[in-house]
Amino acid sequence: SGVWAVVPAAGRGARAGGELPKQYQPLLGRPMIEHTLRALAAHPRIAGLVVVLAANDVHWPGWRELEGKPVRTAIGGAERADSVLAGLDALPGKIAGTDFVLVHDAARPCLSHRDLDALLDGEAPQGALLAVPLADTLKRADADGRVGATVPRAGLWRASTPQCFPRDALAQALRAAKAAGVTVTDEAMAMERAGFRPALIEGAADNIKVTTPRDFALAEFLLARRAL
Ligand code: CTP
Ligand code: MG
Repeated sequence: SGVWAVVPAAGRGARAGGELPKQYQPLLGRPMIEHTLRALAAHPRIAGLVVVLAANDVHWPGWRELEGKPVRTAIGGAERADSVLAGLDALPGKIAGTDFVLVHDAARPCLSHRDLDALLDGEAPQGALLAVPLADTLKRADADGRVGATVPRAGLWRASTPQCFPRDALAQALRAAKAAGVTVTDEAMAMERAGFRPALIEGAADNIKVTTPRDFALAEFLLARRAL
C-alpha cells in the first residue's frame, strides 16, 4: 500500500523570473522538480507520483519512475486547483488503503522525510497539512500605508505542503469551489469551504516555497545542509 502524491508543476513561476519555469531551474546542479520528486518518491510510504505539467511544457524529462516508484503525468490548467483536479483524475484506481492522497508543490524541494512522517502519522480523518507558526509581529496596513492595527499572532500559521486528504472528498471540494467561482490557494481552503476541519501539523520552516529570485540560493543552502 502507501499513498500517492499529486505534484502540481504547471505554473510559470512568474515571480521567480529567469528563462526556465522555476520548477526546472537548477538547484545544486539538478532541476528543482527533481529534488521535490525524489524527496517524495524516496519515502517508503509513498506509492507513486502524479506530476501535473503545463500543456506546453517542453522541459519535463519524461521520467516514468523515480526511486523505484511509478511516475504518471497529467496536464494542468489555468489555476492551481485546475491542476490539482487534473492530477487527481490521473491517479490509479482505488485499491485498499489508498483513499488518501498527498498534494505537494513542485516549488517546495526542501521537504524532509521527518515532515512527511509527521504528516502521515497524524492520522487525521478530515485530512491534514504541514504548517509553520508565524514568527513575525503582524501589522494590518491602513489605506495610507500606516499601521492600522497589530494583529495578534497567536493561533496563526503559514500553510505549506504536503497536504493530505481523502481523495474523493478533495476532488469534490475543489469542484465545488470552482463551481462557486472561489479561487482556493491551497487544498485545505477547499476542504474548509466544504465543511472539513483539516489538522495543522507543525512542519519545518526549511520547507520553503521557492517563489522569488532570492529563494534559489536559500533553497540550495537548505538542500546542501540537509544532505550532510
Ligand atoms: N501550479 C500549477 N498550476 C497552476 C498554478 C500553479 O500546477 N495553474 C503549481 C506551481 O507549478 C507550483 C505550485 O502550484 O509548483 C505553487 O504555485 P506557485 O508557487 O504560485 O507557482 P507559480 O504559479 O508557477 O509561480 P507564480 O505565481 O510566481 O507565477
Ligand atoms: Mg502562482
